[in-house]
Amino acid sequence: MAAASKSGKSPEELLCSAAESGDAEAVAGLLSEGADPTHFDSSGLTPLMHAAAGGHAAVARLLLEAGAPWNALSPTGFSAGDLTSDTATYDLLLDHALRSELVLGTVARRQAGSANSSDGPPAESYLESRVSFSEERVMDAESKAVMMKWEQPLMEAHARAVCSGGGGKVLNVGFGMGLVDEAIQRYKPDEHTIVEAHPEVYARMLKLGWGEKKNVRVVFGRWQDVIPQLGSYDGIFFDTYGEYYEDMREFHQHLPKLLKPGGIYSYFNGLCGDNAFFHVVYCQLVALELANLGYSTQFIPLPVKNCLSEETWNGVKQRYWQLDTYHLPVCQEESEPE
Ligand SMILES: C[S@@+](CC[C@H](N)C(=O)[O-])C[C@H]1O[C@@H](n2cnc3c(N)ncnc32)[C@H](O)[C@@H]1O
Repeated sequence: MAAASKSGKSPEELLCSAAESGDAEAVAGLLSEGADPTHFDSSGLTPLMHAAAGGHAAVARLLLEAGAPWNALSPTGFSAGDLTSDTATYDLLLDHALRSELVLGTVARRQAGSANSSDGPPAESYLESRVSFSEERVMDAESKAVMMKWEQPLMEAHARAVCSGGGGKVLNVGFGMGLVDEAIQRYKPDEHTIVEAHPEVYARMLKLGWGEKKNVRVVFGRWQDVIPQLGSYDGIFFDTYGEYYEDMREFHQHLPKLLKPGGIYSYFNGLCGDNAFFHVVYCQLVALELANLGYSTQFIPLPVKNCLSEETWNGVKQRYWQLDTYHLPVCQEESEPE
């Protein structure tokens, strides 16, 4: 640590300065002498954030190779990927993030498998707790929003996407406020199946008359449990609550059976809706995993800034969406090469 002892600065402080100025040689030297790439400086930034903000792709690469976390957040909630305006640095971070998430997912699934996957799912705490309803939202017992009315234009766009084949059979997983289902009904599908697992949401659906609509079939239960009761569909929309990314991933494994050839699948794309870079990572990750199943995914950008105001979130514990653009996924079976 020769440079550190001479300057009176710690190796990590020197690493941050070298990263900020894009000095790849100094960064490589400091890393080889043991400087910690996971360090946060006095302003709460990591060496990788400094390199990203300066658009120093070569330095960012060295730091990532040395174990710098791509997903560390600054005090204002920005990651290195949010801080760069340099395309090469952005692409490098995105590629690294995707690889890391793919590897981590595989490792986690392997560990879960060896831990004993036959134990079944963990306790369904959301499904066992109370929910409350108003005109504007459905809330869970912890004052988190299960569904909010501001999403209505998004739900209408999702309905348009999954009903674009015209008529046919449509499946929606997760009723919430029924916004997407009301929109689906306007396309007059031959058959409209709705899966809902929360007893109170289900009871409200029946009270609102969804059980008596001629073309509607309501299936009460967790999608995981009722899949054998389902058929195959021209359009499918998936939007649950209180579940993990892994659950959605598991749902996707059923698409080859649930989605008819030529059918359209879409899901509520709220993944990492509070961070722009993480959101892009998760859009790409889902698209990659769907591609492995033979589906191509297109994201339609929809501006949502005007749907949201400060008051929207009054009394809501978590602002689950903070971005200006929503990326509506449209997935279809990849066409066979000619
Ligand atoms: C975000 S809301 C759906 C909102 C809906 N898209 C709309 O337009 O109003 C999620 C719904 O999924 C339900 N849900 C949660 N887990 C589920 C599961 N495993 N199977 C079926 N429904 C589930 C919740 O009870 C809730 O009603």
